[in-house]
Amino acid sequence: MNKKYNGAIGIFDSGYGGLTILDEIKKRLPDHDYIYLGDNARTPYGTRSFNIVYRFTLEAVKYLFKQGCPLVILACNTASAKALRTIQQHDLPDIDPTRRVLGVIRPTVEQLGKHTQTGHIGIFGTPGTIQSESYNMEISKLYPGFKAVGHACPMWVPLIENGEASHPGADYFVKQEVDRLLDKDPEIDTIILGCTHYPLLYDKIRRYVPEEISLLCQGNIVAESLADYLERHTGLEKRLSHGHTTTYLTTENSSKFSAMASIFLNQPVEATTVEI
Ligand code: DGL
Repeated sequence: MNKKYNGAIGIFDSGYGGLTILDEIKKRLPDHDYIYLGDNARTPYGTRSFNIVYRFTLEAVKYLFKQGCPLVILACNTASAKALRTIQQHDLPDIDPTRRVLGVIRPTVEQLGKHTQTGHIGIFGTPGTIQSESYNMEISKLYPGFKAVGHACPMWVPLIENGEASHPGADYFVKQEVDRLLDKDPEIDTIILGCTHYPLLYDKIRRYVPEEISLLCQGNIVAESLADYLERHTGLEKRLSHGHTTTYLTTENSSKFSAMASIFLNQPVEATTVEI
């Protein structure tokens, strides 16, 4: 185990999207140590099969455990939809039952009751997240009377990963998917941005979604839910370190990651390339 990172919270995403979660978690829990891992070499996950997303995610979790993380957050809806449950139920008992892996779908769904009046919920996500119907299943468990409609946006992650999110060409792809979702159910009054990349397109999405519809970003929801979880799991909290550090790791080129992440986080980021 790499003693340097012993006690850090691992934050994992296929690429840059999880930075939107990390950013909010750090605002809510600024004292902890964090390791962010972006699997940029293999992004996007959203169009990949269940088995591949599961395998890649498990590799990332094992890597972060090896660095010394007692807790890993899958800051990725696709990984949460396709790999979280199997890792929690099948792999964790063998690897180390004292460590924890948490996702982003359940905490997001828990908040819906506070936002919707009509009970009609829209979900934007990657093709993998939408096809998995993880949101629909979670919503029908917690809010059986709600109607949930998912809509896949296959172009949005590539636009973001390629640095096109703020360029005018992205508007076409954003408006098209917003119109398609609202055509499916005009009574939707709350939309979940069910991919951690999408807040990076927030301004454009907001421009085309009518203002009376709430748009839920997951960053602050996940941060709040994590703070609550750590208050309730004091044994785990005691194993976490509090050195105020963040380490950025990527499976792709570190200079490219550093440049993009510095723009997204609005602060200088220096990343290291790793093999997982
Ligand atoms: N950020 C991810 C999510 O929340 C995945 C994006 C991708 O790799 O397709 O689903």
